[in-house]
Amino acid sequence: MTLPERPAMRVVSGIQPTGGLHLGNLLGAILRWVRMQDEAQCLFFLADLHSLSEYIDPEVRRSNLRDMAAALIASGIDPERSILFNQARIPAHAELCWLLNGTARIGWLNRMTQFKDKSGKNREGASVALFDYPVLQAADVLLYRATHVPIGEDQKQHLELARDIALKFNTDYDTDLFVAPEPFIGGGTAARVMSLRDGRSKMSKSDPSDQSRIALTDSDDAIAQKIRKARTDPEPLPTDPAELAGRAEATNLVGIFAALTGETVEQVLARFAGQGFGAFKPALADAIIATVAPIRGRLEQLRGDESALDAYLESGAERARALGAPTLDKAYRIVGLSR
Ligand code: TYM
Repeated sequence: MTLPERPAMRVVSGIQPTGGLHLGNLLGAILRWVRMQDEAQCLFFLADLHSLSEYIDPEVRRSNLRDMAAALIASGIDPERSILFNQARIPAHAELCWLLNGTARIGWLNRMTQFKDKSGKNREGASVALFDYPVLQAADVLLYRATHVPIGEDQKQHLELARDIALKFNTDYDTDLFVAPEPFIGGGTAARVMSLRDGRSKMSKSDPSDQSRIALTDSDDAIAQKIRKARTDPEPLPTDPAELAGRAEATNLVGIFAALTGETVEQVLARFAGQGFGAFKPALADAIIATVAPIRGRLEQLRGDESALDAYLESGAERARALGAPTLDKAYRIVGLSR
């Protein structure tokens, strides 16, 4: 059986529907997803099966899913043009993960920094899903024979693992079924947006401090206040980007500003060189508000319409199911399983 033809560029990427979108997700991934809709066939999904790697109250899980779907649409993902869905509606993700578990090596997973960070000192108490998480992520992209996977810097290692799994499977079974996906880490200065409280740890949904991140749901005042309180150093901003070295918080804030305005770091510094953060922070807060406020407005409208959101996800799932089914069928056959 030959597989149906795939477009030259097929984009696949996902986000965990736990907590709301923050500025890191938006600049590192989502706004690039939005732009890629013009260039390629795009599949964007809510990684709800991945969210099982930690306990979440089922009702919270259900409402998080709709909230994240609304946040993506509010950010500019068009559910008619792109295929927007949640993993759990498509059992092929979990099935392909199981087939790939035969190919992935424990040694490879042991090297995953996200597992080490998230399990911390309690490795023995971590869920098996947390350990196997990158194999499910590989299944997510290999199922659709994705060519490009737009992600932030923190997901790069997982994508490299997906490539290793694809290549080993193809070699072991002497097939060309899987396409080794390219990680697409654009985002420039925003490929890794850092916490507002600590320039050495990334902005994240799981940080216990709400002050560490800008959420899409933050009011203009809350944004201005978080930026005012963001950690910085007492030095003025330099002219030369090289002089930002060793100044993690300053690098982060300048990087966010550049990503928001589409300027280079040099251009931003040319405007603010010699000035302290007292001058820079209000301009940064304004730039963030200019991007976030319209998205927040759309999000508030979309959130109320649960049935419309469910309908978008169901119709996206129907289209995704059809695209993934031939790959899964073929994978079963290649490994010698009948169903
Ligand atoms: P998640 O939900 O943590 O994040 C979604 C996307 O946002 C990016 N991102 C960031 N970018 C810059 N700075 C930050 N501080 C920042 N925080 C998050 C992430 O890199 C990601 O692109 N495992 C994935 C979800 C996933 C997936 C996939 C992604 C599941 N299957 C298949 C791609 C392909 C995750 O937890 O992303």
